[in-house]
Amino acid sequence: MNIKNFYKPSKRSFIESFIVMDVLANSKKIEESGKKVWHFELGEPSPNTPKLVTKEAKRLIDMNIPGYTPSNGVFELRKSISDYYRKKNLLVDPDCIFVTTGSSGAFLLTFLACFDPDDEVLIFNPSYPAYKNILNSLNIKVIEVQSDPEKNFDIDIFKVKNYRKIKGLIISSPNNPNGQIFTREELGYIYEFCSENNITVISDEIYHGIGEKKTYDSFISFGERCFVINSFSKYFCMPGWRLGWVIVPKNFQKNFLKLSQNLFISSNNIAQYSAIKAFECLNELEENNEMYNMNRKYVFDTLKCTSWNNFSQSSGGFYSYINISNHSDNSLEVVNRLLRETGVALTPGIDFDKKNGNLAIRLSFSNEHSIIKEGMILLKNWINKNY
Ligand SMILES: Cc1ncc(COP(=O)(O)O)c(C=O)c1O
Repeated sequence: MNIKNFYKPSKRSFIESFIVMDVLANSKKIEESGKKVWHFELGEPSPNTPKLVTKEAKRLIDMNIPGYTPSNGVFELRKSISDYYRKKNLLVDPDCIFVTTGSSGAFLLTFLACFDPDDEVLIFNPSYPAYKNILNSLNIKVIEVQSDPEKNFDIDIFKVKNYRKIKGLIISSPNNPNGQIFTREELGYIYEFCSENNITVISDEIYHGIGEKKTYDSFISFGERCFVINSFSKYFCMPGWRLGWVIVPKNFQKNFLKLSQNLFISSNNIAQYSAIKAFECLNELEENNEMYNMNRKYVFDTLKCTSWNNFSQSSGGFYSYINISNHSDNSLEVVNRLLRETGVALTPGIDFDKKNGNLAIRLSFSNEHSIIKEGMILLKNWINKNY
């Protein structure tokens, strides 16, 4: 084929890849060669999808249920999500809830419905890489507010006051990758600031439910001037089912529906009906949470016994962000070497922050407790030998 005259990919498709996927590919190669890998790189729950959900999916497959569903999701699921909020004393009309293909689908719909090319949207680094990458692919400008390595990469949300002209802002609490939980005062400040300056707030609440706190403050508790995004991928242990949701203000509903009809038609029918059962499994999900909390304590206690003792110690989510600036300025090289020499896989910070991420590494402790213990001993010995 003559490549010179062949089709060229669009400029907007030249976005960054997920480095964590490269780490995963390397770990798979190592596993294929017969060696064991301790997966601390993936932000995926290790517990299985609740049995009641899988049982329901099996039943539904044999029922020949109709194909496409309404583009905003089946009413029964939207009602279950609304009831879930009601138990937290939050009133959310099922009509304001849009069921999406994971929270990723919700981001795409929300960005398209809220922003035009060249609008400016602010993110706080370190942050989940897809925010920036999806925005870039839509030709929306990304304003990156940096955190300070000297302050252990803690995000200072009050820095937003210098950006009154932005069109939108994304915030996530607990945050990926450092687990940072913003106080109610901080979240309230963002809500008021954005309301005063007509800035669209998008709150990613995908890690709600995970951590030592039983409940987190949802942005919706401040009022309706926000888009709240959540997912079945983390707390509900259904990442591959590709289901999420977004709470949409009333005046956006029609546009969301049209976008959703044209982009996706609908989310998966069996996944939607099965997910209703997830709300009957909250005790089981709470047990998973206890395991994450046990992992949290083990990981923090172990890291404290090493020279990598500068790390985020949040009580929420299942990540820690380790500041390695005293030891290296090349987190990618460090994680590659660690993987080669021990089989422990971590994610370099450059996935979450292109500017300072070379000074940090993310450790995910969503794996089984026994695996966390084994991997942490290997990691501790390796750090103590090398740093
Ligand atoms: C902060 C954050 N938001 C969104 C997502 C996307 O999740 P999903 O599309 O599976 O709902 C992830 C996945 O890791 C994440 O960490």
